[in-house]
Amino acid sequence: MRWSQLDFGRTASTSRGQDTPRNLMGMKDGTANIRAEDTDAMSRFVWVGGEGPAWMRGGSYLVTRRIRMLLEVWDRSSLEDQERTIGRHKYSGAPLGAHPEFDPLDLDAGKDGQPAIPVDAHVRLASAQVNDGERILRRGYSFTDGVDERLGELEAGLFFICFQRDPERQFVAIQRRLGSSDALNEYIKHVGSAVFAVPPGAPPGGYVGQTLLG
Ligand code: HEM
Repeated sequence: MRWSQLDFGRTASTSRGQDTPRNLMGMKDGTANIRAEDTDAMSRFVWVGGEGPAWMRGGSYLVTRRIRMLLEVWDRSSLEDQERTIGRHKYSGAPLGAHPEFDPLDLDAGKDGQPAIPVDAHVRLASAQVNDGERILRRGYSFTDGVDERLGELEAGLFFICFQRDPERQFVAIQRRLGSSDALNEYIKHVGSAVFAVPPGAPPGGYVGQTLLG
């Protein structure tokens, strides 16, 4: 083994049985995620179909990013700024201007003549509505690696992990949009990145990777 990252507490819920956890910014994370029970969305967005090499059929591509959170800056900003940055209420997790957590994201809703969910809010720019209907399954963890010795700042953040059947069409397209305009960029810094091909699960008596090596 060449490298590892000690993480804790998943940051996104991935099944209907789980309450939505909070990330290190204190925001609920995973509200609009794909759920394991939503088999239509799983086959449309997560499992590789007939488009790739035969050994990847039924597998998925994992994209990961080590994203440092600038928590000192985040903690100094007002609640209103934080909520406008994400586009959701901090306490309930509901979209700005809506009430229960799972209310749909209404990108056309207005407030005082302005969009209720700001044009640079994270959830607007990451949503399927503005990304040609594309979605990803997020399954990240939080990390803390002590203190950055040079500046005395917390070395902590989100170890972002997501699964999709086509990284170029899904993660890369969404990340390009976020990278250029997301209000969250003021509070985060991507410091590492990798992509993995994850072959399908093992058949009874078989092993993972059998479709490639067997
Ligand atoms: C430290 C970095 C990040 C933080 C703190 C963060 C936080 C959040 C939060 C709080 C939500 C709203 C709740 C939810 O629906 O889960 C959200 C939604 C989302 N995020 Fe992130 N996120 C980060 C990075 C990313 C990255 C790198 C991507 C993909 C390129 C991404 C994609 C999404 C998507 C697709 C949604 C759902 C949007 C929707 O349809 O409503 N996020 N994120």
